[in-house]
This record gives sequence, structure tokens and C-alpha cells, in this order.
Amino acid sequence: MSEKRGNSFLTAIVIGAGIRGSIYAQYAHLYPNKLKIVGVADPREFYRGKLQQRFDIKDDNCFSDWSEASERDKMSDCVIITTPDRLHKDPVVAFANKGYFILLEKPMAVNEDDCREIVKTCQENNVIVAVCHVLRYTPWANKLKELIDSGLIGEVVNINHIENAGFWFFAHCFVRGNWHIEAESSSSLLAKCCHDVDLINFWMAGRRCTSISSFGHLSHFNKESKPPGAASRCMECPADVESKCPYSAKKIYLDQIKQGDKEFPVCVLAEDPTIESVTTALKTGPYGVCVYDNDNDVMSNQVVNMQFEGGATATLTMAGFTKSVGEREVKVYGTKGQLSCTANSDPVIKHYDFLTGKSHEYQAKPKMVEGMKGYGGADFYCMDSFVSSVTENNETTISTGPEESLGSHLLVFAAEKARKEKRVVMLQPDGTYN
Ligand SMILES: NC(=O)c1ccc[n+]([C@@H]2O[C@H](COP(=O)([O-])OP(=O)(O)OC[C@H]3O[C@@H](n4cnc5c(N)ncnc54)[C@H](O)[C@@H]3O)[C@@H](O)[C@H]2O)c1
Repeated sequence: MSEKRGNSFLTAIVIGAGIRGSIYAQYAHLYPNKLKIVGVADPREFYRGKLQQRFDIKDDNCFSDWSEASERDKMSDCVIITTPDRLHKDPVVAFANKGYFILLEKPMAVNEDDCREIVKTCQENNVIVAVCHVLRYTPWANKLKELIDSGLIGEVVNINHIENAGFWFFAHCFVRGNWHIEAESSSSLLAKCCHDVDLINFWMAGRRCTSISSFGHLSHFNKESKPPGAASRCMECPADVESKCPYSAKKIYLDQIKQGDKEFPVCVLAEDPTIESVTTALKTGPYGVCVYDNDNDVMSNQVVNMQFEGGATATLTMAGFTKSVGEREVKVYGTKGQLSCTANSDPVIKHYDFLTGKSHEYQAKPKMVEGMKGYGGADFYCMDSFVSSVTENNETTISTGPEESLGSHLLVFAAEKARKEKRVVMLQPDGTYN
């Protein structure tokens, strides 16, 4: 590990001061005795300035590109890398080579070569890195793991896992937003469900995934589904058509801001969301475009089937058309019983025992920390583990290091290969697949 730190608190630079960067930085606001934000890099002046002001960062430590920060002599203990998907590998490699500890947003990178380069560079430099598979740090995911490992339900034979993306959330991110074109970001499976593949792999630990298949479709959000008479922008759409569209940008964004709510998703549309600025964004920007008339190409529903050593299977469903948003549902079937959990704001793990016919419930309510409540408090737990790990120079509190994350990213890449080539992909013990 790198040299001993002089301060009692950690110092960090935020690389990418958008939504995720600001959430992780909130930890420093809540726990200034544990973490201090001393630098920021972002080409968007408004967001860079916001973070600068919030943490009183000196001008000299504010950069308009990550590379300017990486070229300077090492100036903090850690970096928090929350740049867009295709801008992860280069900064991680540069900062790891400088000896920084790194909190890295998922996906760690968008292809296998880049993921492997990240692993290699982090190993060579012996730096602590946590990939933000944030759900892995939640009480419910860990309680489920503990119960599976205890043998409570015997041998696991199947995991059935659903990620309910949310109909409006899906339209916001994957039809109109930053993740709507694979070549500019990543596949929707990688962007949305690398968490879920990683969780299945975690719960199945000790059993290697040997084969994988996947089917997906870009349902509904295509030109064939465009209602007759619809305009290419919601603000220009005839009232009789717009009023019948659940994906209308007017409903998703204008109704929200009219209620005075400036949080996600309207905060993505304008620096200062108001009825006027959101209206302008809908008239001119990407979030006002008809969901049936865009250039989106990522899957809106997808299934992944996995088989593990010993024969156990798992099925993942990425569902774009759902009421609940980001709410995972999981069922784990064993030879002696079953476990199920819906990961809402108050997750309960239900156990049924085949022999006794008895049921039992395990509570797994997370701690909800102001400004870090996303993903059922997962953002807080992930950040807290990273800070503890670096502070104590103890990697064991990080369960999503680069090597482990590479393992589950490879499963996503293999699933995408299977989907695109319409066949079963076999995985080898060294992680290669064909
Ligand atoms: N862990 C999770 O559950 C989770 C959830 C959402 C998003 N993400 C991931 O987090 C990352 C960031 O997503 P976001 O929603 O915060 O996006 P965002 O667009 O709000 O933030 C990204 C920021 O990076 C900045 N940036 C772009 N180029 C840069 C450069 N050269 N140097 C420095 N900064 C640069 C952008 O200006 C922007 O402010 C993405 O990879 C995304 O997939 C993870």
C-alpha cells in the first residue's frame, strides 16, 4: 500500500462533478472528520463551481479535465472517478499510476481489454480500488448471502432475479438520456444490470458460471410504435396524442417542476430547474424528444440465463416497462427451502423451510443518510466501506475490488456476445469466453 497518511481525515478529488460525483462528495459534507474534498475536475463550469463552493476548494485545485489533475504531483489520498462510462479507463490508469486510492463508478470500463488494463495497473501500483457495485454493500444483499452460505436452504439450485428499471426512468436514461446509444456509453445490460449480474455471481460464490445465453429487444421505443399524428417533440405534440402518452416529457418533467420538485430527473435538464428552464430544455434538448422518434439503440428488455458448476442456474430479467423504479426482486431456491426479497426501502428476506413448513422473516432495513439515500441507501454503504478501507489501510472491507468486478463484468460481456450472436457462450476457468 502507499505511504502512511499525515491527516486524520482522508482527502479526495472528485473527477466528474455530475450527479454521482456530488452524491459521493456528500459523504465529506456529512463526515468532515473522515473525508475532505480538496479538488474537482469537470469541464462543465457550473457543476465544477458548485462543488468548489460547497467544499471551499482553492482555485488552483479546480480543473476542466481529469488529465490536468492527474498530471499534477499527487495532491490527495483518493480520487472519486464519476465520469461518463467511456471515460473511466484512462483516468483510473493515470491516477493508479500516481498511487491514488480510487473509488470508481461502474461500469469499471465498457470492454474487456480496458477492464483487464485497469486490474493490471491497480495491481502493479498496489492501490485500493472500489468499483461502485453499490448494492453489494447493502444489508439486504449481504443478509441474503449470509443465509445462503449458512446452508439454511440447502444447495442452491436456482436464482431468479428481476431488475425493475421503471418505465419513466428507462425512458429518461435509455431512450432520451446519456445511455441511449451503446457506442456512446454502453449496453443497457452493462449500464443497468452489471449490478445484478454481480449480485448473482456474489450469491453463487464458489460456483463458477460455465455457460450463458441472453435475449433482448428494443421494444416499443421505436419509430414503428409512434402514434399517428405524434410530433417529434412532446412540446409540439397535439394534445389529443400527448395526453394519451405515458412517456410524454411534459408529464415526466414539467409536472414534476410545477410541483416545485427540483430533484432527479429534472435536475439533469437544467442547471437551475424552473418551469421556464425546463420548458426551454424540452423545446430544444434531448429530454423533449419523442420516445418513438429518437436514435436510441439499447435494449429495453432483456433476459440472461446462466448455468453454474454443479448445475445450478440463474435467470436475470432487465425489465424496462415497470411501475417500480430500481426495485430488485430476488428468489433463491434451494434443496431445503427458499428465500425471497424485494429490495424496496424496507427490505425483508422471507424464508420458507420445506421440512418444517415454517416461514421466517429477516429484517434488512438500511440506514438512510441524508443526500445518499439512492439505491436503498447503497451509495452511503459503498462510500463508507471505501473510506474505512483506505483509512485503515485494510482492503477486506471492499468486496468489489477490480479483480472481482472484472469477473462479473466478463459475464455481462459474455451475455452480450450470446445475445448478439444468438447462441450459448461458454466460459472457461480463466474467465475467457467463446
Ligand atoms: N453506481 C450506480 O448505481 C450508478 C448510478 C448511475 C450512474 N452511474 C455511473 O456513474 C457515472 C457518472 O454518471 P452521472 O449520472 O453522474 O453522469 P453525469 O453526466 O451527471 O456526470 C458525469 C460528469 O463527468 C463530467 N466529465 C465529462 N468529461 C470529463 C472530463 N474529461 N474530465 C472530468 N470530468 C468530465 C461531466 O461534465 C459530468 O459532470 C457513469 O459511468 C454512470 O454509468 C452509476
